[in-house]
Amino acid sequence: MDRLAVIKILMKQKKLRNYLEIGVFNGHIFFRIRSNFKIAVDPDFQFDFLRKAGKIVLNHYNLYNQYFEETSDDFFKNNAATALKGKKIEISLIDGMHEYAYVLRDIENTLEYLSDDGVIVVHDCNALTAEAGSSYEEWSAKKIAGTWNGDVWKAIIHLRSLRNDIDVFVLDCDQGLGIITKRKPVKMLPFSEKEISKLTFSDFNANRESWLNLQPEGYLKEYFNLK
Ligand SMILES: C[S@@+](CC[C@H](N)C(=O)[O-])C[C@H]1O[C@@H](n2cnc3c(N)ncnc32)[C@H](O)[C@@H]1O
Repeated sequence: MDRLAVIKILMKQKKLRNYLEIGVFNGHIFFRIRSNFKIAVDPDFQFDFLRKAGKIVLNHYNLYNQYFEETSDDFFKNNAATALKGKKIEISLIDGMHEYAYVLRDIENTLEYLSDDGVIVVHDCNALTAEAGSSYEEWSAKKIAGTWNGDVWKAIIHLRSLRNDIDVFVLDCDQGLGIITKRKPVKMLPFSEKEISKLTFSDFNANRESWLNLQPEGYLKEYFNLK
């Protein structure tokens, strides 16, 4: 199961509509979402006017899209309140800059606008190798081939340690899909912010299942009590 399948299941069965995607790239996921309230945020969209027009023909919901070609920090600072027009975000895919501080800000800013039964899906939570889990600096300097997940895993540990107002688990599919809801957490982790900043990839590798609250993909339906 990939992020698109997870989002489609949640939208259909939980009747979630208002969609925000942070980190959109060429719109591979964004343009497929069927909702007349969709917001795309990315400082460097990889599509032009013609692609946008073609996507309206393929999926008429794309007619209503709002595009913000800027960083997510700028979006939340300058445009989120106006773009949302008093509406709540009901489902969000967070897939922008894959570094701890950035992802954490994206999640915490999105939570400010999330409806009580809304869901945040976070891509790239489960880096499997030290290379995939390296910093952006190391990754770009070494020109490593393959997928870069960064240290999104630290944002998951942070939320599971320091936020007692949200519930967080990670589905073991599609590079690790973090699922965040406004439910109370069943079990929290004991780390302080200082301890989290010092964690290394090998610490994570030895503890990934418990630190991520890693769950098989079938858990999605169990958790939300879906068909
Ligand atoms: C992995 S791609 C997103 C892929 C897309 N969500 C999908 O599922 O096909 C990551 C994107 O994040 C964008 N990005 C990088 N820094 C960002 C930031 N600070 N705020 C928002 N997006 C950012 C990049 O421009 C890039 O297009």
